[in-house]
Amino acid sequence: MSVLEIRNLHASVEDREILKGVNLTLRSGEIHALMGPNGSGKSTLAYLIAGHPHYVVSEGDILVDGESVLGMEPDERTKAGIFLAFQYPVAVPGVSVANFLRTAVSNVRGYTARPAEGRGGVIGSNLMPMREFRKELNDKMKEFNVDPSFARRYLNDGFSGGEKKRTEVLQMAMLEPKFAIMDESDSGLDIDALRVVSDGINKLATPERGFLLITHYQRLLNYVKPHYVSIFYGGRVVMTGGPEVAHMLEEKGYGWVEREFGAEAVVA
Ligand SMILES: Nc1ncnc2c1ncn2[C@@H]1O[C@H](COP(=O)(O)OP(=O)(O)OP(=O)(O)O)[C@@H](O)[C@H]1O
Ligand SMILES: [Mg+2]
Repeated sequence: MSVLEIRNLHASVEDREILKGVNLTLRSGEIHALMGPNGSGKSTLAYLIAGHPHYVVSEGDILVDGESVLGMEPDERTKAGIFLAFQYPVAVPGVSVANFLRTAVSNVRGYTARPAEGRGGVIGSNLMPMREFRKELNDKMKEFNVDPSFARRYLNDGFSGGEKKRTEVLQMAMLEPKFAIMDESDSGLDIDALRVVSDGINKLATPERGFLLITHYQRLLNYVKPHYVSIFYGGRVVMTGGPEVAHMLEEKGYGWVEREFGAEAVVA
């Protein structure tokens, strides 16, 4: 069992404090939904866990199995089992989905760290063998309902919103992370794509993996049943409960959260 622990995390960007003491624990086997108003800092938290260099941590820690990841580069964090599906995935023209995934998978599975066994200098000799990789990619594209033509397309280049989100699920299926953070992976999806994405999440929600699902809407949670739902407000988690919390938010909005946990209610 693995544990991702966020402890009293304070972080700022451009001298503005965005995260103000986040506490959150995610264990393998758990699905934890994080809901909160626009601008409350949810994506900032996701970026910080993944190791985005833009943010400055002034207090607190992010630990995987008791070990701080704050000093790790993003690729080391990926190796440590952290995966982030971005709210706005960027296009990488010139890099195909297949090439990108082969490199990423080779890094995570340790191929790139091995000596090239006398074949040094041969391009790709420190990557997962092509045939093996292709087979796995094809199998997973089938399993996760991603059209095979996507393997050849440039990563996210000209992808529709829904296609980007499906591709993120495929990435997750290939990288097999311990902790998957999905930032609004349900936004902009039509009904069928929402099913494809949530089926993918359900397939990957094994006892060995923890999910942090950042979402604004109950509708994803109709398909993916969370164990916990936390409310994120003003740069911290203000409340954690079961699925009923999401229903309550859907019904009542965030007005009462502000009254109860608004800035004036926070004792600094
Ligand atoms: N690089 C940056 N420069 C300046 N401000 C930033 C930067 N990144 C984030 N912020 C600010 O931090 C706050 C939190 O942003 P964040 O994207 O984390 O919110 P969010 O909870 O994910 O919102 P949404 O639900 O709209 O996605 C916002 O006010 C945002 O403008
Ligand atoms: Mg966001």
